[in-house]
Amino acid sequence: MITSSAPGKIILFGEHAVVYNRPALAVPVMQVHVDVEILASSRAGIWIDAPAVNLHAEIRTLPSNHPIASVINNLLSLFRISPLPPLEIKITSTIPVASGLGSGAAVSVALIRALSRALSEIEGASIVHPLSDEQVNHLAYEIEKIHHGTPSGIDNTVITYAKPVYFIKNPSAADNWDTGGKIETFKVGVPFTIVIGDTGIPAPTKEAVSDVRRLWRMHQIHWESIFDEIGQISLMARRAIESGRPDMLGELMDHNHAFLQQMTVSSPELDRLVDAARKGGALGAKMSGGGRGGNMIALVTPDLAEPVTRSMQEAGAKNVIITKVE
Ligand code: PMV
Repeated sequence: MITSSAPGKIILFGEHAVVYNRPALAVPVMQVHVDVEILASSRAGIWIDAPAVNLHAEIRTLPSNHPIASVINNLLSLFRISPLPPLEIKITSTIPVASGLGSGAAVSVALIRALSRALSEIEGASIVHPLSDEQVNHLAYEIEKIHHGTPSGIDNTVITYAKPVYFIKNPSAADNWDTGGKIETFKVGVPFTIVIGDTGIPAPTKEAVSDVRRLWRMHQIHWESIFDEIGQISLMARRAIESGRPDMLGELMDHNHAFLQQMTVSSPELDRLVDAARKGGALGAKMSGGGRGGNMIALVTPDLAEPVTRSMQEAGAKNVIITKVE
């Protein structure tokens, strides 16, 4: 049996502005993950069992643009393998779908790593295992395009490397391994605690991204200057994290959230959880990811994690995760 796992992620700063080439910061969330198991099968074909998305099917019965089928088909053609080897693939996940925690990218990354190993063991396979992180990231980015349309590449990047990343989309990246952007990993000077609250409302990132695009088209000068300010926030946040001053992040989160509200990508439910976190004692809070639903994050001192969690639950959080960034 071959296994592989990939973590979830949160965007700390810079979502949406990152689509317009401003920097964003994201960190992995190890408390949630996707796990993939691959076994040789006694029946013909590649069988996929993914209960979290209610998928139990043989690959040839899936539409060709299905994200999981696309991962598998892309790898089969990369490894020049045909006919289909008989495999059973089981995908389990504790990452809620369409909630800004990177479930789609985590499925892609874990599946690419497990399947590339399984395929490399087949006679005649034309690729060397293991794939480099850069190759995994590139393949996962191709699948993000199916999920999101015009993804920046931040989700696949932070999940592939499973480290904090400072990310700038690079539209001119036309090399062999286009992963969506320029990646810098950075050091966390002093660990800090984030409380993640789920509105329980699934929200497709694609729609929020295209609504922001519409606003930008109408008033480009205005939105470009807001994206500049968000880019500055991401840069200041990176410096605060690296220099061991995470306490400075709270105010930056509040500012970033206000800009996201102006972009219309927050929602009453997200705002309610953000307010509740601040009232409960958080140093700052903001929505995280595409918005309109999904998750928000709050910066807390460790002793305030519990009261802030309670305050968010009372305000309607469907699930809360406490995570340490280190
Ligand atoms: O909803 P998520 O967590 O996948 O985040 C999307 C982040 C955006 O900046 C809104 C879009 C992107 O491609 O970067």
